[in-house]
Amino acid sequence: MNIDRHGRRFRKLRLSLTAACNFACTYCVADGRRLVAARDELTAQAMLSAVRLLKNVAGINALRITGGEPLLSDRLEPFLLGLDTLGLGDISLTTNGQLLTRKLPLLVRAGVRRLNVSLDTLNPDTFGHIARGGDLNSILLGLEQARKAGIAIKINMVPMQDLNLDQVLPMLQFCLEQGYELRFIELMRMGHLAENPRAFRNRYVGHGELLDLVKKRFEFVPVGAPKDSTALRYKVGDLGTFGIIANESAPFCRSCNRLRLSSTGWLYGCLSSNRGHYIGDLLQQPENHTNSQLEKLLAYALADKQETEFTGSALIMKSVGG
Ligand code: 5AD
Ligand code: SF4
Repeated sequence: MNIDRHGRRFRKLRLSLTAACNFACTYCVADGRRLVAARDELTAQAMLSAVRLLKNVAGINALRITGGEPLLSDRLEPFLLGLDTLGLGDISLTTNGQLLTRKLPLLVRAGVRRLNVSLDTLNPDTFGHIARGGDLNSILLGLEQARKAGIAIKINMVPMQDLNLDQVLPMLQFCLEQGYELRFIELMRMGHLAENPRAFRNRYVGHGELLDLVKKRFEFVPVGAPKDSTALRYKVGDLGTFGIIANESAPFCRSCNRLRLSSTGWLYGCLSSNRGHYIGDLLQQPENHTNSQLEKLLAYALADKQETEFTGSALIMKSVGG
């Protein structure tokens, strides 16, 4: 098992089921682009083998399924149903929510108990402007149905200057009322934003500014979070809690235990690193043969982790998930 000098090891796996997405969020893709599936995406069976290997060799104990948009992929069903036998304690999924109403029965059947849904605004015009695809009402309906099905829901919102800052208070109000935990995610320098520092700076909102905004309507106190959590968490009386993922202003690299696997079979040890380690070919071989090779690749991936802070990356969420 690999452990680095900060005591970091891989515990949580984020698996991108497909690079394809039905949205084109401004912070994720440059204007006029659409995310499509990569040509050589792994089969559901190969993805299951990867999860089993990473559980056994790296000690992964939690899985988050991401994309692109995972609910778009026809691998979702065989993958989810196949996870049953792997004995992972914690399985969750990040989605833009567009297909939630349609896929909810499958998620429930497969035992998914936690969802992260990306939602940056409750205003339909702003929604169209940011997501550049999809329909706000279907997402809201999907959220309600998921809540009624007993799934715990976190909402990811990326606050941006001149786009949706006016939505911070309405979104928090809405989430507290509905029983969703809102997570503000500070804008990250990924993909086209890594190449365009001015565009990044113009939109970025730090956690201090956010808290000042929230203070205008709500009283809150900080609450503890698990050591490996990426979020600063706050309690709003007995109304509920919200969190801030302060990638830029309060980096959490020192306790990061995440490992990412792209839909095409590349491992990434760090969101800041463009270096992938290919395991697609290992998945075809007998396991006794693969373990030592995988150990080696995992050691490289662990060494890719930043010491202290996220430094930007040409990668975008479609290949490495959130
Ligand atoms: N900065 C911050 N958050 C981002 N996401 C995607 N790209 C970025 C970015 N550049 C968010 C999505 C999703 C989560 C997985 O990551 O909104 O909720
Ligand atoms: Fe799709 Fe997520 Fe990227 Fe938006 S952020 S375009 S929902 S992959």
